[in-house]
Amino acid sequence: MTAAAKDRIRIALPENSMRYEQDSEWCLIDSQDGWREIRFHDYAELYTITGLYERVFYEILQCSSPSTVRTMLVDAMRRAGADIGRLRVLDFGAGNGIMAEELVKAGVSGVVGVDILPEARDAAMRDRPDVYEDYHVVDMAALTEDEHAALARYRFTGMTSVAALGFGDAPPDAFRESYNLVEDGGWIAFTIKDTFLSDQDPSGFSALIKSAISDGTLEVHASETYQHRIATTGDPLHYKAIIGVKKSDLPS
Ligand SMILES: C[S@@+](CC[C@H](N)C(=O)[O-])C[C@H]1O[C@@H](n2cnc3c(N)ncnc32)[C@H](O)[C@@H]1O
Repeated sequence: MTAAAKDRIRIALPENSMRYEQDSEWCLIDSQDGWREIRFHDYAELYTITGLYERVFYEILQCSSPSTVRTMLVDAMRRAGADIGRLRVLDFGAGNGIMAEELVKAGVSGVVGVDILPEARDAAMRDRPDVYEDYHVVDMAALTEDEHAALARYRFTGMTSVAALGFGDAPPDAFRESYNLVEDGGWIAFTIKDTFLSDQDPSGFSALIKSAISDGTLEVHASETYQHRIATTGDPLHYKAIIGVKKSDLPS
């Protein structure tokens, strides 16, 4: 799609008096063949149209997660006297590469993307062809032995996961697998909606992350609740960003 065609896409959001759960939010788009509804969690559809993901989440709904994580990671590493130029990062739930672009700006030595959707890799190669050293289409919750071996070869010293955990997205097992692919002493940076860290959380994330912190598997260097984006109602959606150093594997 040309830039001119991209600019002709019209986007409509629900009235802000209509309330939806975050994984049921939607928009209408008109890309010259009539209006159609796309659920926000239908990432494959969003990625397929050049620029749509950025317009909906970053321009209209003011998503700030990748830049927040980059700033927090850079500051934490500077405080710890660690060299960001030595970081080889596994970007888990990579999408079309927005977090990787931030990491490259920060000066990491390399980023490998992983995402369950082939449409995400296609979009990353289309939109940000220079940010990834490599990009694997895999389900991190169900890696085959070959897929695991291929990723282990990179000997990652860092992992990022931005806006990819919970809901219909990645489950705790996928987080564990990504985390365990990082060498001990590597840097971990992730975001998760605050409700997934509450004591009432049934997803398993709260228990996994809280025990990793309390037993020293993850040494936290920075942690902040921030506005991830606004909902279609205009209300803020709060996430927590956690930056830390991996001390050992998460147990299965
Ligand atoms: C909201 S997008 C975030 C994309 C990117 N990190 C960003 O901040 O723009 C979440 C991504 O996680 C991916 N994802 C969900 N479950 C996954 C899994 N089990 N393994 C790998 N990727 C997964 C989705 O396909 C989607 O591209």
